[in-house]
Amino acid sequence: MTKHSSSPSGNRAVFSTRFAAVATTVGSAVGLGNIWRFPYEAGVHGGGAFLICYLAFVMLIGVPVLCAEFCMGRATRSNIVGAYSRLKAGKPGLFAGLLGVVSSLLILSFYSVVAGWTVEYSLASLTGALDFSAADPMGHDRFAVLTGGWRSTLWTLLFLGCNFAIMLGGVTKGIERMSNVLMPVLFLLLILFCVNSFTLSGWRQGVAFIFSPDFSKVNPSMLLGAMGQAFFSLSLGLGGMMTYASYFSKTTRLARTAVTTAVLDSAVAILAGVIIFPAVFTFNLSPEAGPTLVFEVLPYVFSQLPAGRMWATLFFILLFLASLTSTVSMSEIAIAYFSEERRMSRRKATLTCALIAGAGALLCALSFGPAAGFKVCGMTMFNLFDYVASNISLPLGGFICSVFVGWKLRSPFLNRYLQPVTPLTRAYTGYLGFCMRWVCPTAIFLIFLNSIGIL
Ligand code: PFF
Repeated sequence: MTKHSSSPSGNRAVFSTRFAAVATTVGSAVGLGNIWRFPYEAGVHGGGAFLICYLAFVMLIGVPVLCAEFCMGRATRSNIVGAYSRLKAGKPGLFAGLLGVVSSLLILSFYSVVAGWTVEYSLASLTGALDFSAADPMGHDRFAVLTGGWRSTLWTLLFLGCNFAIMLGGVTKGIERMSNVLMPVLFLLLILFCVNSFTLSGWRQGVAFIFSPDFSKVNPSMLLGAMGQAFFSLSLGLGGMMTYASYFSKTTRLARTAVTTAVLDSAVAILAGVIIFPAVFTFNLSPEAGPTLVFEVLPYVFSQLPAGRMWATLFFILLFLASLTSTVSMSEIAIAYFSEERRMSRRKATLTCALIAGAGALLCALSFGPAAGFKVCGMTMFNLFDYVASNISLPLGGFICSVFVGWKLRSPFLNRYLQPVTPLTRAYTGYLGFCMRWVCPTAIFLIFLNSIGIL
């Protein structure tokens, strides 16, 4: 780790190498969003058509907003609220900044619950409590038994504890080392499980489900879901990538890092789809099971592998670690805000965030137990936090960011921070600017109108 001395906000840490910057950014993007959330959203919204819309949103909205966030982070070397204020974004900027901080804590709350399930599943696989040899290795009842009671609440809080312990250790060291090793290993493991999928009897159906689009499935709620998934999966719209870019060294190439992140992130989501859906069809499960889908299906996948218990244990541990590399980036948004804007010591800022996220996580964890009946707008706290953050706050944050960078800061800003040097990269920057000015705001606006029934 080195220090950067010319930042407006004093000495700020920077990632030590270009590879570390990319690995850490990919580490933030790749997590439960790809492996848990993408398959269940795709399952609920009809598979192939969802995948196509999701990929279109990644290209047309995700990469441009990612570049906008990167440029703002590099230009200001600041947290999201500080970045908007240094660039003189006025009240809308302050709103977007605070929305980002609140959304990061909301996401942290429900994300930790799912990460807590990975602890339960790792232990259950390790101790043999998950019986992979049984005819029904794990149906819905088993999922409820494993995750419903106080134990899973305990794992949720334990996960949050690990997360904030890492945060207390500083920004780059722990995250950087973990991402450098973890991302390649996780990728290899997923490829292995993917190959296994092709030995299952339902592989044709599964692959057809995820790759042959049925466009009659396209509807407002699906479009909103696919857009929300693109934002969630790329960690966009709440300043996570902006904050990370503020720790990049000057040599990190922003546009290239954005494309690498989007490609790897989408590849992991597709791999997850290829792992889950063949198993869904082989074992006659429903692709529409919702948030519990992956945790119900994966034990079936492992039951088909030689030494399934070992693979299961390894996989759930890796998933736990991949969740950590994502939650550290979420936590950094709020911690950087409290420490830089509210002038708290880093320690106090970390403890404040831990308390808020801990309270939110408790509410979400109890949604799968004693508070399952407590609903707002027909949703449990867990579903509500996920819906509001992913489908509303993140796209709204992305809307403000792209309008601000595209219309107020405009091309000179992009050219300066994306550093186009060849005609090709200049053309690419032109494409990004066009998307920021026209495509992102229009698409996000229309989808919002559409989903509240105005259009
Ligand atoms: N992109 C992460 C995932 O797919 O699991 C989730 C996430 C991380 C969202 C960081 C937002 C964030 F700031």
